Amino acid sequence: MPDMDGMKEAKQYHTDIPQTTERFFLKGSNSLDWGMKNRLARIFNPQSGRTVMLAIDHGYFQGPTTGLERIDVNILPIVPYADTLMLTRGILRSIVPPTTQKPIVLRVSGGTSILKELSNEEIAVDIEESIRLNVCAMAVQVFIGAEFERQSIINMTKMVDIGSRYGIPTLAVTAVGKDMARDARYFRLATRICAELGAHYIKTYYVEKDFETVCACCPVPIVMAGGTKIPELDALTMAYNAVQQGASGVDMGRNIFQADSPIAMLQAVRAVVHDNEKPQKALDLYHTLKNQS
Ligand code: R5P
Repeated sequence: MPDMDGMKEAKQYHTDIPQTTERFFLKGSNSLDWGMKNRLARIFNPQSGRTVMLAIDHGYFQGPTTGLERIDVNILPIVPYADTLMLTRGILRSIVPPTTQKPIVLRVSGGTSILKELSNEEIAVDIEESIRLNVCAMAVQVFIGAEFERQSIINMTKMVDIGSRYGIPTLAVTAVGKDMARDARYFRLATRICAELGAHYIKTYYVEKDFETVCACCPVPIVMAGGTKIPELDALTMAYNAVQQGASGVDMGRNIFQADSPIAMLQAVRAVVHDNEKPQKALDLYHTLKNQS
């Protein structure tokens, strides 16, 4: 029997202090459920409101991309410097140690290869698998304007519905077909369609002109895709411009793992994204860290 003496006096009800009601830091995400918010707050840093996702999912349609031939050798050492890891279940299970504390964004659409029409994707991973793998979000490719546009949009809306049952957010990844114009007009269309249909955040490419309009009219966070390898200063400038113009971070692959020093590049990108470091200063940091390694 616990000692009841003094119990009433010891309690502190703080009747004069109103309970704190915290506003969620991510754009357009305030009305989401606790589990969704908790997962998003693991992907996006609540202090900066941004994320540096490391994308290594390329193999799901193009096989062993340059830099990803041996993920155990080339990628695992750089994972600690990323905020989030975006990959397939095959690589997660076979290579990534389950002791990792990194939030996982799991690629759940697939079914095509670079040898065929890429937009002909289906949902390739059950929701039970995402739950089993304890992921923080599920990534679905959406091909606006492509041959299988409708199918890819429905793939996404299905994952939004199923993920919402279990508190797992859906990342819509806007894919651009070879013959489509990569301009702000296209990306406003593509990102807005994904957001209107329920995507919790959206990955899209950077465009030099009017990227801020893409971010402004998308009601949920945007993360910038990296694209093909370009010189380090150009990649850092692109990331800098994207976050300054409204992106909530980046999801970069080749410009990190194909750099001469991926660890240095990832840290330089972090400086740009989380600390608003200017591109030239971030490049200096890249060279310093590269020379130290
Ligand atoms: C491509 O479909 C994948 O989603 C990649 O994750 C994406 O392209 C980002 O990687 P990168 O920065 O190499 O373009």
